[in-house]
Amino acid sequence: MVEKTPLFKKYPKLTSIPWVSIINSPTPIHKMEQTSKTLKRDIWVKRDDLTHTIYGGNKPRKYEFVFADILKKGKKTIVTLGGIGTNHGLATAVTARDFGLSTHLFVLEQPLSEGVRENLLCHHFFGAKLHLMRNPFHRKLAMKIKLMLDKSSYFITLGASSPLGTLGFVNAAFEIKEQIEKKLIPEPDKLFVTAGSLATCAGLVLGLELAQTKTKVVGIGVTDPSRSSKQKTIELAKKALLIMRNKDASIPNVSEKLENRLVVDHSYFGGKYGASTKEALEAIDLARKDELKLEHTYTGKTLGGLIDYCQKNKVTKNEVVLFWNSKSSADMTPYLNQITYSDLPRKFHKFFDDQIKNEDLF
Ligand SMILES: Cc1ncc(COP(=O)(O)O)c(C=O)c1O
Repeated sequence: MVEKTPLFKKYPKLTSIPWVSIINSPTPIHKMEQTSKTLKRDIWVKRDDLTHTIYGGNKPRKYEFVFADILKKGKKTIVTLGGIGTNHGLATAVTARDFGLSTHLFVLEQPLSEGVRENLLCHHFFGAKLHLMRNPFHRKLAMKIKLMLDKSSYFITLGASSPLGTLGFVNAAFEIKEQIEKKLIPEPDKLFVTAGSLATCAGLVLGLELAQTKTKVVGIGVTDPSRSSKQKTIELAKKALLIMRNKDASIPNVSEKLENRLVVDHSYFGGKYGASTKEALEAIDLARKDELKLEHTYTGKTLGGLIDYCQKNKVTKNEVVLFWNSKSSADMTPYLNQITYSDLPRKFHKFFDDQIKNEDLF
């Protein structure tokens, strides 16, 4: 497996970095026929919604490095955080269960949607211990105490966007490079990807620079601009590069070149994390014609940005564009059928108020 991993094929000395196989790769890449027709551009999609059979999306790529570190250190309990509907929390619980580890998920409230509720139920189904926190300060303290008291615990940062997690997306960039070489896609001029906790965007920028493709990256910001800035993305990419160069000094120091390869655009953010926007809803409808299931917090906003760039000619007619589909499309119905909100800790029942009211009627 290691020898087939694009990053290690390119830089064999990096195999001394702990890594464990988690994802189904390479993920498919194909043209979005209907979207291309509508936008009169060549639009392709990287199907990272399919990275994992149970729950895919962008997180499992990061975990190939993060979980390897956990296993190497012999830790047994994961402490991590997010909103009540965190995709990262769910992907962590699924992966932890596979490795016989337990997950403690410290969550804050977020705008409710069907997807948020489903994830919350799945967190519990896949064995995460849920802790509902009042505010970020309270949460930080609670996590610190847990980490202090349980010596077998390991902290995974928000969205697994650590420098190690970022390496998962440097690897992804080399995966695309191989797909270009196999002529599965023309070399993209631009790649549109969601910028949240940033490892996805940072790893791709760094990897595409090292792979010497012409592809520029447009990160569509979906959180407050101060949290997902271009500067923070580049800082994270540089930290990942440092890990790589510490293992293999022949890897070029491309730090200064990253700036020119990246744009981070918050025009489609909608003012609030998780808020739905007109552009995101239109993008979700358009993607449906290509049988892709997007959502309004991440992928809808990102495709919405791509559409707007095409309409404003910021993507020209002869450019090839790649859209990174980072949200799992796995069907969770089989698990959701086995659980109801009343199985959750009591504090979480209020997020299912409608269902509680309906039950009262009978
Ligand atoms: C579905 C989805 N896409 C994209 C992102 C953004 O990726 P990152 O956090 O690495 O910036 C996230 C998480 O924030 C996510 O859950």
